[in-house]
Formats: sequence, C-alpha cells, structure tokens
Amino acid sequence: MQKEVASKIPKHVGIIMDGNGRWATLNGKERSFGHVVGSQNVDRIVTHAFKSGVTTLSLYAFSSENWNRPKKEVDALMDILTAYFTNFLSNADLKGVRLIVSGDLSVLPKQLKEIIYFNMQQTISFKDKVLNIAINYGGRQEIVYAVKNLIKENREITTENISSFLYTAEFGEPDLIIRTGGEKRISNFMLFQGAYSELYFTDVLWPDFNGAEFDKALLDYSKRKRRFGVLGEENEN
Ligand code: IPE
Ligand code: IPE
Ligand code: MG
Repeated sequence: MQKEVASKIPKHVGIIMDGNGRWATLNGKERSFGHVVGSQNVDRIVTHAFKSGVTTLSLYAFSSENWNRPKKEVDALMDILTAYFTNFLSNADLKGVRLIVSGDLSVLPKQLKEIIYFNMQQTISFKDKVLNIAINYGGRQEIVYAVKNLIKENREITTENISSFLYTAEFGEPDLIIRTGGEKRISNFMLFQGAYSELYFTDVLWPDFNGAEFDKALLDYSKRKRRFGVLGEENEN
C-alpha cells in the first residue's frame, strides 16, 4: 500500500519540544542526559521539516518558567544551548537558514548571549528559511513587552501593532503547533500568535520524535479545515 502523504504543507510550524526528562528517567539516566539527546534531535527535525517544504520553524527550547528548575539542570541546559549555537554556523544542514532567537536574552550567560547575537547577525540576510528558537521565552511576557514598547513610542494599541512588536513580526504566526511528550497544554508558548494555529499533540517524547512522527503531524494537519471563525468554504493557508 502506498504511504499517504500530506497534501497541504504548513508554512510555519512551532514545536514544544517536551519529554527529555522523562525519556532520560525511562532510560535510567539523569535528566540532563535527556536534554543532550534532545538537543541532538533538533537538527534532524529541522532538516526534515525544511525538506518537507516548511519554511519557518519555531522551537520552544527554554521557557521563562524553566529557571525555577534545580540549578544543576538549568546549568546543564545553558551549556547544551551554548554548545548548540557554537556549532551552528559550521553545520552544513543549516546552511542558508536565518536564525532568530526569541525571548529575553539579557539574562542569559554571557557566552551564550554573545554566540546567539553573532549567529543571528551572520544569518540576517537569509530569507528562504527561518529557524526561530525560543529561549527564556514566555508568551505573556512577549505581549507585555510589545505593549510597553508601543506605549513608549506613543503608538496605538491595536492587534496589528502588537503583532509588529512581537519576536515573530517578520515571519508571522504558526500554522501548526506540535507538542511532544504527551501533555496537552501550551505552557506559555506563542499565546498571541497561536490564536488560530492548529494543535497536534503526541505522546512521543522529544528524543524519540523523528521524521516519520513529524510526517504524521503534517498528514493530520493537511486534513484539518481552518475556518478562522468564518462559515462556508475552507480558507486556504
Ligand atoms: C523539555 O523537556 C525541555 C525543557 C523544558 C527545557 P522536559 O525537561 O520538560 O522533560 P519532561 O517533561 O520533564 O519529561
Ligand atoms: C514547556 O515544557 C517548555 C519547553 C518545552 C521548553 P515544560 O515541561 O516546561 O512545561 P510544563 O511544565 O509541563 O507545563
Ligand atoms: Mg516537560
């Protein structure tokens, strides 16, 4: 039997990469080991997603609330992120990909902050593919930040103006948000942008989430009818 493939590909996919800790525990390892294996999965999925025709990928890597975890785990996550971004530009799979990092970067460790800014600057002219990684990110905080900036600039508070002050201003809202790891919640990810995103939840833990699992999400998405509050014929992307 021929494999059913997705007939409609979302342009922008968001992923809440959850389940690293449980994956490690299940494998008799420390939680931080789960984050290492999870980080190794990132480029596999990024490559697969871009090959599938997705043009923007938003990955939730560290929430504003994740600071409240034990220091040992937070430190390990900061080290893993630093290693990831240090290798970013030499990674052939990520050639031509624009990097954007969303979130309050001011409080990140100096080395991590610097390598992020450097990579963002180096990839700023790439247009076709965007990789947006959310670090120290919270959807509520992002909205507050946008509104504060509008007030500072004496601009009107409208949905369009708020949108234009979000981290996603240049590349827009996710068509599909995938959450791995079995929880069915948004956990402060893209609250404003996700108003009409399609949601896909899977029990598969992030380190086990592979191309075939991503394809299942795409297939599911291609069968959804997006209505945006309107009656009648399906609205195209
Ligand atoms: C997601 O995995 C990664 C981060 C939140 C940084 P978790 O660490 O939340 O893994 P679980 O949910 O405890 O399994
Ligand atoms: C959401 O996962 C944040 C990331 C995946 C980075 P969490 O594990 O922090 O979310 P909760 O605590 O289950 O809501
Ligand atoms: Mg979790």
